[in-house]
Amino acid sequence: MRPAVAAFDAIAPIFDRHFGAWQSVAAQRRAVRQALLREFPKYGHILELGGGTGEDAAFLASAGYRVLLTDPSPTMVALAKDKLRPFGARTAVATGEELEDFAAHYLSTGRSLFDGAFSNFASLNCVLDLGPVARGLAQLLKPGAPAMLVLYGTFCPGEMLTEVLHKRPDQALRRRKRGPLPARMAKHDFPIVYHRRAELKRAFAPWFVLEKQLGIGVTVPPCAAEPWISQKQRLLGVMETFDRMISRPLALFGDHVLYQFRRTSWQ
Ligand SMILES: C[S@@+](CC[C@H](N)C(=O)[O-])C[C@H]1O[C@@H](n2cnc3c(N)ncnc32)[C@H](O)[C@@H]1O
Repeated sequence: MRPAVAAFDAIAPIFDRHFGAWQSVAAQRRAVRQALLREFPKYGHILELGGGTGEDAAFLASAGYRVLLTDPSPTMVALAKDKLRPFGARTAVATGEELEDFAAHYLSTGRSLFDGAFSNFASLNCVLDLGPVARGLAQLLKPGAPAMLVLYGTFCPGEMLTEVLHKRPDQALRRRKRGPLPARMAKHDFPIVYHRRAELKRAFAPWFVLEKQLGIGVTVPPCAAEPWISQKQRLLGVMETFDRMISRPLALFGDHVLYQFRRTSWQ
């Protein structure tokens, strides 16, 4: 198991209880889901990468989409499987790095291509080289299908402010650093990369064009502001309203950024 996968596998049993209680996470999820519903064709066949315990897959499946959730953590996938059973959605253990092999196997079984794909809340920041993800998605998506990828933003004033207020100034500029950086969770050390927009574009060309970016959590703060911000419902409501207005022009200041790619028809 890759170190990042081992870390997420270890926290899988408490993932929903822990993050589900945080209102900033709920607000950011609402923004992502709104974008997914806008871009995915109704009742379409949707692939999720790094889907964790299946929160978003369950949301889409309950809205009538046919969803296949993938995640490399066996415990995450087992939890997602239980959550998705009532909706008939499917699950598979798969890493982003091995998406080409996954695609080859999936297509060899004669299954149909997907109408859209997505990945929420920085799963792809655990993938150091996005090349295999791009090539795998290129095989799996129909021409014209959207790939909605939510990664960490690389310039997040909300996090900078929170880290300074928490007297952790060394963390304030963390996302400006390039290349793999150390992360730690549940006593597991693992590398993550804050992928830049230009790197993403390069990895996904020529099979995808980047249509637009949306800031997810521009004024809605990052996790670092929890649990404080969850007790400020009114303030958070105002921030969410602001985010709806500024998520396009100030996209690159988001805690997360939703990169909306579209599968081209010429490669
Ligand atoms: C922060 S969680 C997000 C889960 C889910 N997308 C959500 O919104 O709740 C990150 C997820 O990325 C998965 N992950 C870790 N390494 C990965 C990799 N190499 N490829 C794909 N997913 C990975 C983890 O297992 C975990 O479920």
